Amino acid sequence: MAGGHRLLLENARQVVLVCARGERFLAGDALRGLAVLESASLVVGADGFIKAIGPADVIQRQFSEETFEERIDCSGKCILPGLVDAHTHPVWAGERVHEFAMKLAGATYMEIHQAGGGINFTVERTRQASEEELFCSFRQRLECMMRAGTTLVECKSGYGLDLDTELKMLRVLERARRELHVDISVTYCGAHSVPKGKTATEAADDIITNHLPKLKELGRQGELHVDNIDVFCEKGVFDLDSTRRILQSGKEMGLQINFHGDELHPMKAAELGAELGARAISHLEEVSDEGIAAMATAGCSAILLPTTAYMLRLKQPRARKMLDEGVIVALGSDFNPNAYCLSMPMVMHLACVNMRMCMAEALAAATINAAYALGKSHTHGSLEVGKQGDLIIISASRWEHLIYQFGGHHELIEYVIAKGKVIYKK
Ligand code: NIG
Ligand code: FE
Repeated sequence: MAGGHRLLLENARQVVLVCARGERFLAGDALRGLAVLESASLVVGADGFIKAIGPADVIQRQFSEETFEERIDCSGKCILPGLVDAHTHPVWAGERVHEFAMKLAGATYMEIHQAGGGINFTVERTRQASEEELFCSFRQRLECMMRAGTTLVECKSGYGLDLDTELKMLRVLERARRELHVDISVTYCGAHSVPKGKTATEAADDIITNHLPKLKELGRQGELHVDNIDVFCEKGVFDLDSTRRILQSGKEMGLQINFHGDELHPMKAAELGAELGARAISHLEEVSDEGIAAMATAGCSAILLPTTAYMLRLKQPRARKMLDEGVIVALGSDFNPNAYCLSMPMVMHLACVNMRMCMAEALAAATINAAYALGKSHTHGSLEVGKQGDLIIISASRWEHLIYQFGGHHELIEYVIAKGKVIYKK
C-alpha cells in the first residue's frame, strides 16, 4: 500500500548532508570534506523525520507509488541542513544603539559596563517590561533568525538577575518552545552580571540557594524546561571560584554546562570547563594553550562568536589553533543588545574572513558542531535518515554562496523547513 509522506524535495543540484555516518561532531581530519550529494532528492516522513536521501533517479523509483503532502522542485538549487545558532541572548527590553555610538567613539565594553551601562542597562529595562512585551519582541527576533536559516537556537536568560525576572524570561522561552516552529535550547544565565548591591560571592550564593532549587522544582512540575547553565566568567564579573560553584550546582541538577569564558581576560575558564565536563565554552578570545589542549581532550566544544570580536574590536579567538588541536569548534551569533546580529550566514562569513576558517569548517561549525554544543547532534545538525527534517533551500548552484554572498541570505534562501513543514517561503 502506498504510504503518505510529508515532503519530497526533488532533484536538487546539491544536497549538503554535512556528515553521513552518524557522527556526533566533526573535528580534525573529518573536517576536510563535507558529505555532499549532487543531483539528489530527499523525503521527510509524516513524523517530521528524514526518511530517505539519495540520487534523484533512485528516490524517484523508490517512491513512485507514494504520496506527499508537499513536493518542491529543487532543480538548480541547493539543500542544506537548517542552521544551528549555539549562543544567543534574545529575550530583553532596552536596546543599546547609543552605546554602539560610544564604542565607535572609543569606549570599551568594560568601561560602559562598569559605568552602569551594558548588561545592567538592559537588566533595568527587562525588569520593567511585561512578559507579553518580552514575548512579542522575542518572537520577531526569532522570525528574523529563521528567515536567515536558523532552525535550532540556544537562548539564554540573564537580563533579570533577580529570581522573578529570570523566571519571567524563562517562561517567555517556554512559551516559544510550545508555540513557535524554531527549536530552542534553553539556558539559565542568572550569573550574567553581578546585580547592584551584591558581591559576586553573594550573587553566587543567591543563585545556588534560591534560583537553582526553584528551577529544579518547576522542571519537576513540567512548567519549565531548562537545558543548560551559563555564567559570565570574567574579571570584574564572576571570578573562577564563583563560576565553579554555580556550574557545579547546575550540573548536579542535570543541566549541561555551557558558559562564557576567557573573553576579555585570560581566566583559565577553559581549563575549568574541561575539568567540570562542560559541554561548551563560548568566546575564548583569551584562552591559553593549556586551555585549548584541555578542551580537545575533554570533548568540550568551543563556541566562537565572530560578531562580538568584530564589533568590540577584540583580538580574534585562535580558531586555527583550536581546529588544528582537534577542538570541536561551533559558531553562534551571540545576538544581544551589544552585538545585534541575527544572521548565521553572516556569522559564517566573518568566521571565514576574520578567523581564517574555511567554508566547510564554518558550515560544520554552524550545523553539526553547534548541535553537539547543545547536546542535540543525535537529532539535529546534518541531513541523515532518522534526523529531524530541518533544512533550507537556496537558489544557487553551489552551497558556498550562502557564505560567500555577505548579507545576501534574504535573496538566497527560498525556503526554510522545520520537521518537514515549510515555515518560510520567500
Ligand atoms: O556574550 N559577555 C557577556 N554576554 C554577552 C553580552 C551581553 C550584553 O552586553 O548585553 C556576550 O557578548
Ligand atoms: Fe553571550
